[in-house]
Amino acid sequence: MRDQAMEELDLNDRNLIVVDDVGGGTGFTTTGVVKHVDGKNVTILDQSPHQLAKAKKKHLKDCTIIEGDAENLPFPTDYGDRYVSAGSIEYWPDPQRGTRESYRVLKKGGKACMIGPVYPNSWLSRFFADIWMLFPKEQDYIEWFRKAGFQDIKLKRVGPR
Ligand SMILES: C[S@@+](CC[C@H](N)C(=O)[O-])C[C@H]1O[C@@H](n2cnc3c(N)ncnc32)[C@H](O)[C@@H]1O
Repeated sequence: MRDQAMEELDLNDRNLIVVDDVGGGTGFTTTGVVKHVDGKNVTILDQSPHQLAKAKKKHLKDCTIIEGDAENLPFPTDYGDRYVSAGSIEYWPDPQRGTRESYRVLKKGGKACMIGPVYPNSWLSRFFADIWMLFPKEQDYIEWFRKAGFQDIKLKRVGPR
């Protein structure tokens, strides 16, 4: 599912500068990215030092691992070629602000991949979704990206078979 979700990201050059993974947790998504890009060009960011401590134990030794907030990224404007955030946006207090940040830190022509859950269809799942965390609708993701300034926005559904 991870690889499927990131296909559109077009990691076609080992020298790409990649902001990955924002809300990178223990580094699962990043282990997929460093198959295509040199670790020295990859920065993992998370607000939790506990999660990052686990990431540091993985084969991600060349990556930069930093504590930070997805909604206030510690990168200059026009910094990277690619941005990835997997399974984190649903915890952000202001997803629009975080999406604006993804646009800001990307160079012109850069690409972002935001992986997140969608609001479930069944009433029982909705009940639990509503009391647990944010489950955006597909249209919410598109609007956040559009308002942030992105063009050529694609939505891809991935899930277990
Ligand atoms: C489900 S985990 C992410 C898993 C990870 N992306 C992976 O592929 O293994 C969600 C992560 O988002 C982080 N997070 C939540 N809100 C955040 C924020 N505003 N800024 C940075 N990290 C955040 C949490 O600390 C947690 O590690």
